[in-house]
Amino acid sequence: MANITFINEKQGLKQEVIAANGANLREQAMQNQVDLYTLKGKLTNCGGYGQCGTCVVEVLSGAAGLSERTETENRKLKKKPDNYRLACQTVVNSGDVTVRVKP
Ligand code: FES
Repeated sequence: MANITFINEKQGLKQEVIAANGANLREQAMQNQVDLYTLKGKLTNCGGYGQCGTCVVEVLSGAAGLSERTETENRKLKKKPDNYRLACQTVVNSGDVTVRVKP
């Protein structure tokens, strides 16, 4: 099992989710009503196919429990810090993970 904590200080969000190992980070957010997208992302997101870059999150802790960055992420996030991920491309393998949404 993995514990995922979604936070966003500006929105006063702190939500903990327990997920099975191998869970997709975007799906976990959506299933638990965590708002991943800005307005632009809500209108234009690609539905989880790694094309739009709007599902970006900042990994604050627990990166070792996540899948490696994909080529798609490396391309989309090349100007972002290394701890930024696309939630739709990120698999939570195990452990406690904390991510900031809409960084
Ligand atoms: S939802 Fe489009 S890149 Fe993740």
